[in-house]
Amino acid sequence: MLIDLATVQSNIKLKENVYLLKVFSPGIAASILPGQFCNIKVNESDYPLLRRPFSICDVEGEFIFFLFNVHGEGTEILSRKKEGDIIDILGPLGKGFTIGKEKNAIIAAGGLGVAPFPFLIKKLRDKNIQCIIGGRTDKEIITYGLVNVNVSTDDGSLGFRGTAVDLLRTKLAGQTLNDSIIYSCGPNPMMKALQGLVDEINVKCEISIECAMACGFGICQGCPVEKSVSDDKYYLVCKDGPVFNAKDIVL
Ligand SMILES: Cc1cc2nc3c(=O)[nH]c(=O)nc-3n(C[C@H](O)[C@H](O)[C@H](O)COP(=O)(O)OP(=O)(O)OC[C@H]3O[C@@H](n4cnc5c(N)ncnc54)[C@H](O)[C@@H]3O)c2cc1C
Ligand code: FES
Repeated sequence: MLIDLATVQSNIKLKENVYLLKVFSPGIAASILPGQFCNIKVNESDYPLLRRPFSICDVEGEFIFFLFNVHGEGTEILSRKKEGDIIDILGPLGKGFTIGKEKNAIIAAGGLGVAPFPFLIKKLRDKNIQCIIGGRTDKEIITYGLVNVNVSTDDGSLGFRGTAVDLLRTKLAGQTLNDSIIYSCGPNPMMKALQGLVDEINVKCEISIECAMACGFGICQGCPVEKSVSDDKYYLVCKDGPVFNAKDIVL
C-alpha cells in the first residue's frame, strides 16, 4: 500500500455523469491485482475530509484508470480534474478476484459495477469470457473494456428486458457449470439476487461489494459486512474484501 501524488493524464466524459480518469502512478500501478481499489483524496484542501474509494478499472504500464459516476460532492470534484492536476491516491487496497483454473469466466455487472472488469479481463487471458451487464435504461449501459457483451435493461430500451440476474439465469439454463466461475459487481440488491441464483444452480461466484468507507485499510472498523458462517461476526469490506465468495457474506 502506497500513498502517491499521481498526475492526471486525462479525464474523459464517456456518458452523462460518467468519467474515465487516467493517472500516472508507477508505484501503485506496479502492484495491482484485479478487483482491488484505491482511496482517493479528491481535493487539495481538507474538504471533503474523507477519501473516496474507487475500483481500479484498468492498468496500462505505469497508468491507472478509474471509471466513476458523479454521485455527490466528492465525485463532482473528481469530474473536474484535468490533465496535469495532481491527486493523492492511496492504494492498492483490499483483496481482489481469484483467478483459478476454470475454463469459463462469466462477468455479471450492474451499472457502474462494470468498473473493475477491464483489468480482470486482461488477466483472464486464456479463458472463455462472457459479459452480462445490466442497467435501468440504455443510458446506464457502459461497455468500456468488456468483451462478448450481452445487455439487459429494466425498461427494455436495450437488449433483454429485465435485470442482469434475470438475463444470467436465462443464459446459464442448461449449461454445465463445474468449469465456470461468475465474477460480479453491482448494487447490493443485484448482489443479493445473484447470491440466490448461484445458491440454486451451485456455481462458483465472487462478488465485489460497495459500502461507505473512511480509512480504507482496516483501522476505523467503519465498513462491516455480516459473515454467513460466523466465528466472529463481521468481515471488513475494505480489508477482507471488497471481493468475497458469494456464499461467505449476508447482504
Ligand atoms: C470498494 C469500492 C469501490 C468503488 N468503486 C467505484 C467505482 O469504480 N466507480 C464509482 O463510480 N464508484 C465506486 N464506488 C462508490 C464511490 O466510492 C462513491 O460513489 C463515492 O464515494 C461517492 O462520493 P461522493 O462524495 O460523490 O458522494 P457522497 O454521497 O457525497 O459521499 C459519500 C461518501 O461519504 C462518506 N460516508 C458516507 N456515510 C458514511 C459513513 N456512515 N461512514 C463513513 N463514511 C461515510 C464516505 O466517504 C462515502 O464514500 C466504490 C465504492 C467502494 C466501497
Ligand atoms: S473503511 Fe476503515 S475499516 Fe474499512
